Amino acid sequence: MEKRELLYEGKAKRVYATADPDLVIVDYKDDATAFNGLKKGQIQNKGALNNKISSYFFELLAVKGIASHYVRCLSAREMLVKKLEILKVEVVVRNIAAGSLAKRLGLEEDTSLRRPVLELYYKDDELQDPMINEYHLYALEIATEEQVRHLAATALEINEILTVALQERQIVLVDFKLEFGLFHGSLLLGDEISPDTCRFWDAATREKLDKDRFRRDLGGVEEAYEEILRRLTGGN
Ligand code: TMP
Ligand code: ASP
Repeated sequence: MEKRELLYEGKAKRVYATADPDLVIVDYKDDATAFNGLKKGQIQNKGALNNKISSYFFELLAVKGIASHYVRCLSAREMLVKKLEILKVEVVVRNIAAGSLAKRLGLEEDTSLRRPVLELYYKDDELQDPMINEYHLYALEIATEEQVRHLAATALEINEILTVALQERQIVLVDFKLEFGLFHGSLLLGDEISPDTCRFWDAATREKLDKDRFRRDLGGVEEAYEEILRRLTGGN
């Protein structure tokens, strides 16, 4: 698939056009940011690791009947995806209190939640992605009621699929963020599913195996991403 002009550059990915107007190439970067871009750095080999880890999850979800933008993995850092019109909403699902939820509700990190919590954030860097609810989505015409029902049900189903798959590999899925977009009128899962966008903990030791190692200067960041890939695929 021929790579054409750069369409968009985000904090962790570049998106390129192809000869097919319906398809784009996502090129994963080693750049890492946290706290809405305030903290910047690089994680050695992150682009290749996230490309492989995301490909693995999108393929698993496809087998389970969850439609996404993923078409196929193209190279070490690149995947071919359907070109979506991304909705300006981030959907977060949480199983265990950590990060901003622990802070907001005054819960100790690693407090388990009785049932999954679904949160919505307005995808706007300048506003630092404020938390919103479904009524904001309707009022701002970001999504219809039918679309929000679909987003929420799909996000919770993904949570169940990933939780089970990760459990088998001694990884706890603490929380994660999803994005969705429209492709010729249908709503598909987009973006990535990787240690940049999920919290993964070792089931026994509770060791963090995700971007919190970068956010909190814990060291061993690349090794943590490698460990996730190794447990998922045996390293391939
Ligand atoms: P939070 O606890 O900081 O709100 O993060 C919840 C989950 O969402 C966590 O798995 C990390 C992910 N996330 C992103 O993917 N992008 C972001 O910009 C933020 C703030 C969180
Ligand atoms: N999306 C956030 C940022 O750029 C990163 C994060 O905390 O995951 O800076």
